Amino acid sequence: MARLLHISDLHAVARGQLVSGRLDTGHLLHEAITTLCARMDAIGPVDAVLVTGDISDDGSAESYAIAQRELERLGERLLVIPGNHDCRETLRLAFSDLPEIAPRGLIDWVSDIGDTRIVGLDTLIEGQGGGTLRDESRALLSEALTGAGGLQVVVALHHPPLRTGIRFMDAIGLANPDALRDVLDRHDAPVRVLAGHVHGVYHGLLGRHPVVTAPACCSAFAFDRRADAPAGFMTGPTGCGLIDTAPGGVWTELPFEYDEGPFIF
Ligand SMILES: [Fe+2]
Repeated sequence: MARLLHISDLHAVARGQLVSGRLDTGHLLHEAITTLCARMDAIGPVDAVLVTGDISDDGSAESYAIAQRELERLGERLLVIPGNHDCRETLRLAFSDLPEIAPRGLIDWVSDIGDTRIVGLDTLIEGQGGGTLRDESRALLSEALTGAGGLQVVVALHHPPLRTGIRFMDAIGLANPDALRDVLDRHDAPVRVLAGHVHGVYHGLLGRHPVVTAPACCSAFAFDRRADAPAGFMTGPTGCGLIDTAPGGVWTELPFEYDEGPFIF
């Protein structure tokens, strides 16, 4: 089994900057990590922290340094992939100590934890909001599945192979979800797909493969499917996910803020 803390969409910026002139993502990230550190006894041991992209909002080296410093406070093994706001080479430089990060090319990787194989896929098209799964990522995934034997498989990518119905997000979704499904369908067991990007929790299926997205660290998008829905963010709810790949294990959302309690029964 593997227990992963699934964190997404930090949108860190250089010091003194605000996202969209409004969001102090550095402060929000610091508070989020402080909350998680305080709750780790309650959450229980995890094997790794999986970060599904948009680590930075502005792609600056300073933003990655801030994000890295905060993530390292968790004291856990880190697994990272880029999102549409990331700058691949700056991210690579910041996280070059991680064994999964290749010195060049796409930031695709395979990491085995216990009986679980985690495959990170880089869907970033620099300068664009939408993402794509390239042939070389599909080849890496195919090879990882072929060699997976009896391992459980988790695939992590920034752009989920789902449509939320929120138009401004669907307009910058994964361009070719069927290309992912084609590869996953060759595997003899369902593959869990974890993603970010949509700043909220969405469950769905890609064929027989379950897909779930994490809430963001910094903001949320209102579930508004109207054609004239404003293209903007809400300041919450924020949180992260926890996945336990053991038999009977679950994916659950960990909100960063609870209401009052617990009140004893
Ligand atoms: Fe994002």
